[in-house]
Amino acid sequence: MNIVLLGPPGAGKGTQAKVLSQEFGVLHVSTGDMLRDAVKRGTSVGKSAKTYMDNGELVPDDLVINMVSERILQKDVKRGFLLDGFPRNKTQALELDDALTRIGKSLDLVLYFKTSPEVSIERLSGRRACTECGANFHIRNMPPRKEGICDHCGGSLVLRNDDTPETVKRRLSVYENETESLIEYYKQKGTLREVSGNLDVKKLFTKIKGLFLEERLL
Ligand code: AP5
Repeated sequence: MNIVLLGPPGAGKGTQAKVLSQEFGVLHVSTGDMLRDAVKRGTSVGKSAKTYMDNGELVPDDLVINMVSERILQKDVKRGFLLDGFPRNKTQALELDDALTRIGKSLDLVLYFKTSPEVSIERLSGRRACTECGANFHIRNMPPRKEGICDHCGGSLVLRNDDTPETVKRRLSVYENETESLIEYYKQKGTLREVSGNLDVKKLFTKIKGLFLEERLL
């Protein structure tokens, strides 16, 4: 299955992608995670991306398009991919269509997480990310076993640089201005299906699994 997860910051795309990837053996491709890793490693992509990310702006298209195009060609994509955070604008969507056509693939589904700005803000202000492995927690909805410590690797949990109130406001406005129009783009193509991102993690997973069954992806 080749799937795009679309929705505002904090909708829970990354959280669901991890569960879906584990459950169904499909590769989770998160451009946000790839870029954060590049920043951490100090690569040239990371150096170019950092300021945009810290300010809640989109990183230039060519950087992310190259990254994703290379990633979806790799062997571990055998059972398909869940694209989380890409595409983010029309240029990226068109480039994705072209890249998939070149390798004889297409998108099976675009899963739109419809989420209110209030929920996004609550989720992002309470999110804590591990400085070592990048795992995400939430101070109320998904608290770690020990406050401030990652359950998986023992790393420290911190507020992401771009989860501060000012930057979240900017990210929501970037989403509205640049990404939201993709809902219509994929609706026109007939691949869009909507779920409520406001549901809790388990209920949302059950909904998505039901939708995969309806679409005969399982
Ligand atoms: P990216 O990392 O993609 O950020 P985002 O799209 O803003 O998404 P988030 O990771 O903030 O939210 P999410 O929906 O994954 O929510 P999550 O599951 O973590 O991008 C970061 C930056 O990188 C961008 O601003 C940009 O600069 C750059 N970038 C990335 N891709 C790019 C591209 N294609 N082009 C250009 N630039 C790009 O959940 C959030 C919190 O809520 C967590 O604490 C979680 O525990 C909790 N939670 C999750 N689900 C639920 C639920 N159902 N109920 C209750 N709590 C929940």
